[in-house]
Amino acid sequence: MRDNRRGKNGEYLLTLAIETSCDETSAAVLKNGREVLSNVISTQIEQHKKFGGVVPEVASRKHVENVDMVIQDALDEAGVSLRQIDHIGVTYGPGLVGALLVGVSTAKAMAYALNIPLIGVNHIEGHIYANFIEDPTLEPPFLCLIVSGGHSHLAYIKDYGRYEIMGKTRDDAVGEAFDKVARAMELGYPGGPIIDQLAKQGDPNAIHFPRVYLENDSYDFSFSGLKSAVLNYLNSQRQKGEGIKVEDVAASFQQAVMEVLIHKTLEGAKQKNVDKIVLAGGVAANSALREGLKKKAAALGFDVKYPSLQLCTDNAAMIGCAAYYNYLKGNTADLYLNAVPNLKLGQLYEKHR
Ligand code: KG4
Ligand code: ZN
Repeated sequence: MRDNRRGKNGEYLLTLAIETSCDETSAAVLKNGREVLSNVISTQIEQHKKFGGVVPEVASRKHVENVDMVIQDALDEAGVSLRQIDHIGVTYGPGLVGALLVGVSTAKAMAYALNIPLIGVNHIEGHIYANFIEDPTLEPPFLCLIVSGGHSHLAYIKDYGRYEIMGKTRDDAVGEAFDKVARAMELGYPGGPIIDQLAKQGDPNAIHFPRVYLENDSYDFSFSGLKSAVLNYLNSQRQKGEGIKVEDVAASFQQAVMEVLIHKTLEGAKQKNVDKIVLAGGVAANSALREGLKKKAAALGFDVKYPSLQLCTDNAAMIGCAAYYNYLKGNTADLYLNAVPNLKLGQLYEKHR
């Protein structure tokens, strides 16, 4: 897709993007959708750590406190003024409703005051688009495994904004399973990166946890059984008074997750006859997933791509990239845009006028 529209600045368009769906307040400025001029992320992890997970009310309050400052920092870092911004993109779902509302209200007020277009962005779509920033030559079609704290999808990306969801989780998202297992071992929050690190020192074959493949031809996932198996193992070891080697539990659990994810992703790629597989979402930061998939995919002739660590987890630059392509397609929102906590991938907002 080629950008042939002129913005306020002449040959290019400047996007301001805002992301507040969970526990990061983030704002970014992008030039022509794929060049990141700034990507400021203010994380609330420290505030939520003591509760072992994100507390929605705390998240909303922190977003309110931080959002203006984060936006100003993003503009300053990019060296642009508000008046130069051509349009504003904002995450409007899925996510925590109170948290989403902070970004949505801010973006609406700014779009109204500046009299510029507003674009509502699906957070999951944003994760996919992080790859367009990472690799400026990447073009659809490709197969995408989207794995985060709230979502696990295997999707065939036919074109910009055109998706076929081949499979999704029937219960826990992958990142959620990592976080819950880490919590059961009192390792801290968020659990994914901690388990990833510990697993490097553990034996992935020490404990046999179940691999859940579901029906033969299904691309769906299920991780709650695996999570329960880990919790049962921990309980029984404690009851027997036997020690728990956290490194081995982490490595064995991670291996059970990755074997299934990698197998289904490769089967999906074969079925769709694509040559590229792309990872997206926070769990795409997992080293076993990155390395394991790359190795197995190379043997079958697939190219594997994934965003850098900062672009894997929540950030506004990925939202800005998705906003830009939506804008080019005419998918702008009106000022009735609302937060949609359970927004689905591929679902467009309802226009009110
Ligand atoms: O995409 P993200 O920042 O937020 C959501 O949209 O959910 O993903 C956060 C999730 C958390 O569950 C976190 O534990 C997981 O991504 N995560 C990881 C790793 N880094 C982050 N999971 C496994 N391995 C990692 N290295
Ligand atoms: Zn996310």
